[in-house]
Amino acid sequence: MVQDKCKELNKDINLFTIDSAESLENFRLKYLTKKSPIQDLFNLIKDIAGDERKQAGQYINEVKQQAEAKFEQHKELYTKSNIKNQPVFDYSLSHNAVNTGSRHPLQITLNSIVQLFSKLGFTVSNGPEIENDWHNFSALNFPAEHPARDMQDTFFVNAEHALRTHTSSVQVRLMESTQPPIRSLMPGRVYRNEAISARANCFFHQVEGLYIDRDVSFADLKYTLYEFVKQFFNNDVKVRFRPSYFPFTEPSAEMDISCQICKGSGCNVCKQSGWVEILGCGMVDSQVLTNCKIDEQIYSGFAFGMGIERLTMLQYGINDLRIFFDNDIRFLKQFVPEN
Ligand code: PHE
Repeated sequence: MVQDKCKELNKDINLFTIDSAESLENFRLKYLTKKSPIQDLFNLIKDIAGDERKQAGQYINEVKQQAEAKFEQHKELYTKSNIKNQPVFDYSLSHNAVNTGSRHPLQITLNSIVQLFSKLGFTVSNGPEIENDWHNFSALNFPAEHPARDMQDTFFVNAEHALRTHTSSVQVRLMESTQPPIRSLMPGRVYRNEAISARANCFFHQVEGLYIDRDVSFADLKYTLYEFVKQFFNNDVKVRFRPSYFPFTEPSAEMDISCQICKGSGCNVCKQSGWVEILGCGMVDSQVLTNCKIDEQIYSGFAFGMGIERLTMLQYGINDLRIFFDNDIRFLKQFVPEN
């Protein structure tokens, strides 16, 4: 009798289709738990006598082993991590890195210049890159046909307009629209028709500054710019002012700082002199104040202008200006945002 029941079970087990994790679990619940028909048979054999009991035990054991073998066989295939059609996550894989950008080195330099001057009360002013003759030249004492215009080789858009050659044009706009006190920076892109080399490009970036109030003197100019370079570079920096010429300032000067690359001992960047020029400056010419409707009897002021590329090259020891405009990610990713 036990033998017949075992044969029947044997058949059922063979016919049971396991083709998913669910049917695998159903198979286990049906044949491999304490309530399975196999277990029921085991419970019966205690009533069977002697030799027959041993024989019956063997039959049932065979069925049990068959069920266990079938379960093991399919377990591999249908355990959770092998289930097809379900997303398989491998949590040990490295994630797709999200590349965040970093600030362009020129922007980092500009930000710190703006920050340092804002402590002295300077605001930021902007103006157009296509500028008319008045704002870029005439108001700044460059008369028509005057050779001083050759100082800055100009890209003309038409007879009246050009790409601005300096952001002094923004100074004119500010003076025309605001009465002193004026304390502002004029950052921006400027254009000059120059051959492209390691030291020059046909466009670059400037920050100019303008300070106009009662009793502003050349001493204020020197103090302000000296404080700026000490904070921008380091406290050891030395400065010197050399007389120079700009049509819109009188007197005019250029400021040199001790070379930050070789610390003054002489290198390629400072052409072995130990000094590098970083800006032009001067007292705003009284005629320029008048051109911009500011009373030169009451007010005086100073102005300065510097190249952002030059400062950035000195700050980071970069020897080719063109690299700023290549957008090579290997270069750019070396500059982490400063905040
Ligand atoms: N505008 C001058 C230049 O582009 C720089 C400058 C600004 C000089 C203000 C003196 C005063 O070269």
